[in-house]
Amino acid sequence: MSKNLIQFIIEEQRAIPSASGDFTGLLSDIVSACKQIAHDVNKGALIGVLGSAGSENVQGETQKKLDVITNEVFLKANEWGGHLAAMASEEMDDIYHIPARYPKGKYLLTFDPLDGSSNIDVNISVGTIFSILRCKDGVTNPTAEDFLQPGTKQVCAGYALYGPATMMVLTTGHGVNGFTLDRDVGDFFLTHPNMVIPEDTAEFAINVSNQRFWEAPVQRYVDECLKGKTPGGREKNFNMRWVASMVAEVHRILTRGGIFMYPLDTKEPGKGGKLRLLYEANPMSFIVEQAGGMSTTGRERIMDLKPTGLHQRVPVILGSKNEVERVTGYHKGL
Ligand code: AHG
Ligand code: MN
Ligand code: MN
Repeated sequence: MSKNLIQFIIEEQRAIPSASGDFTGLLSDIVSACKQIAHDVNKGALIGVLGSAGSENVQGETQKKLDVITNEVFLKANEWGGHLAAMASEEMDDIYHIPARYPKGKYLLTFDPLDGSSNIDVNISVGTIFSILRCKDGVTNPTAEDFLQPGTKQVCAGYALYGPATMMVLTTGHGVNGFTLDRDVGDFFLTHPNMVIPEDTAEFAINVSNQRFWEAPVQRYVDECLKGKTPGGREKNFNMRWVASMVAEVHRILTRGGIFMYPLDTKEPGKGGKLRLLYEANPMSFIVEQAGGMSTTGRERIMDLKPTGLHQRVPVILGSKNEVERVTGYHKGL
């Protein structure tokens, strides 16, 4: 039988002499949250959780009932353990302080509790994305400012994918490993050790309905992919996918390669992109880089960006190295 996720993490942590067990405890709480979310997402209409909540989040997006429920599940599963100083979520205006009745810990947790939530009512894959940062030494009452750390500072990043199977994929900076939930046993087991993104690909993912709003380098890249060998002048023809769940797209790329783009566009000027740096772009960039892929805004490495706001959005171009390099080159005018 393969290792379960917690056994895998405990063994990984043993290699770090200073590890106190705090991180393992935190991850175990995150795993519990994702199992609960997998249950709720799977039951769907049977437990009345589909449809709109009738509210808007801080970014002006209509919240689904499950956006609200999964946010609550994540908070409740992670607030009590004594591992966290605070949390920040895509679904909440401000950071979440650990209630006074619980001890505080040294980590900060950011998360997107339900990614791809436009897919939930039509029974297509959704996910959860999370990122763990260290809280500055001596800070017991963190502010939003304490979360504004570049992606290179992440201690761990992961996602859960609620698809035909529920999976959890994560990195602590030593490669990427994937675990599959065995519902009968109630545990995630290591099924995808050392996931590696192929350097080359013939598959791209972008929401083409935004084409008229893109910048010239992305227009050029996608145009060439669409035209393929002839008349595009590329060495191959391309296939295309768009699930509208970033977790599902990244998982496909980790499995068989590909390039995913949610680039800068002029649809809503000043927005700076669609995906959120702290809850989506940074954790996914950490995972993709650890699997040998690349992740940029087109102009800079995403993990090098110094965040300026909790809900900051950024352009995202990630996946197979050679294609991401090509698009980045087009942005540089090569
Ligand atoms: P969320 O459901 O957390 O708001 O995220 C949705 C994101 C991402 O997962 C996906 O790639 C993208 O938004 C889809 O956007 P479009 O609907 O514009 O294609
Ligand atoms: Mn999302
Ligand atoms: Mn979301």
